[in-house]
Amino acid sequence: MKKKVLITRKLLRSNEDRASKLWDAKFNSNDEIYSPKKLIELSQGCDGILSSLTEKIDENILNSLSKSIKIISNFAVGFGNIDVQAAKKRNIVVTNTPDVLTDATAEIAMLLILGACRRANEGINWVKKENWKWSSDFLIGKQLTGSRLGILGMGRIGRAVAKIAKSFGMEIHYRNRKKLSPDEENGAVYHDSIKSLFSVSDVLSICCPATKETKDIINKETLEYFPTGAVITNVARGDMIDDEAMVQALISRKIYAIGLDVYKGEPKIYSEYLKQPTAFILPHLGSATKKTRTAMADLAISNIEEFFSTGKCKNIIN
Ligand code: DGY
Repeated sequence: MKKKVLITRKLLRSNEDRASKLWDAKFNSNDEIYSPKKLIELSQGCDGILSSLTEKIDENILNSLSKSIKIISNFAVGFGNIDVQAAKKRNIVVTNTPDVLTDATAEIAMLLILGACRRANEGINWVKKENWKWSSDFLIGKQLTGSRLGILGMGRIGRAVAKIAKSFGMEIHYRNRKKLSPDEENGAVYHDSIKSLFSVSDVLSICCPATKETKDIINKETLEYFPTGAVITNVARGDMIDDEAMVQALISRKIYAIGLDVYKGEPKIYSEYLKQPTAFILPHLGSATKKTRTAMADLAISNIEEFFSTGKCKNIIN
């Protein structure tokens, strides 16, 4: 008998085809975001769930899911949407999709850096009003060549950003829980505190996971550590930024510009960001390429398959 798997969001066609060959899969053809109640109802009789970052699966939901659920395979590398410890207590294995999205996410990190430094939002808004202008001092931005890039979180994505940014002529600095080996550092300068990292960051790229320690790590106090006129970008999770303090820093020009792909409390966006001309903002596009989304869903499917057939899986996170 085929296993039953609930797939909470629509996947690309080739991924859904594979899932339907393997399982008795419950698809979401309208791609609606399920309420907790609906998620619980739909989980009845299923052996596993292939979830996305749009479902917040907290302890209450975990305790109400069908007892038949043994695995939740998250279609993302980040897993802040799932209470993984509560899942463990309920004997539900949680998996994620590392590696396959590293390059796509690093590309968006660079887009944020470029967009914020080179005033892309202001340029686009100008052109949309059917305006064209050239003058020697019009929309002058910050050049990457020779500037210092601070990377907060030097995991797979951080290191991929470092590699690309280096080819733009940036000098790389980083803060990480552990200092990397010289090979992995590839010339980047390690900082043993965020104060030390931020104080040399002409541009910051946030690439670390959302944890209790990193929540609101960019706040009123830490914003003061940056050189005046620094640029801050975030491709990881919105939880790391105190939005109100960030907008104040933009208004006061302490911070020159920001580039954001992720937001606290998604799908909501702190509305003040929308009013800031110096905010270059995207709707969580980090992994959004066909190649990467296909590979992510494939891995999320393989994680479930590996677990069903061996009781183990290499991408278990709890
Ligand atoms: C992830 O995998 O965590 C990404 O943010 C999804 O796009």
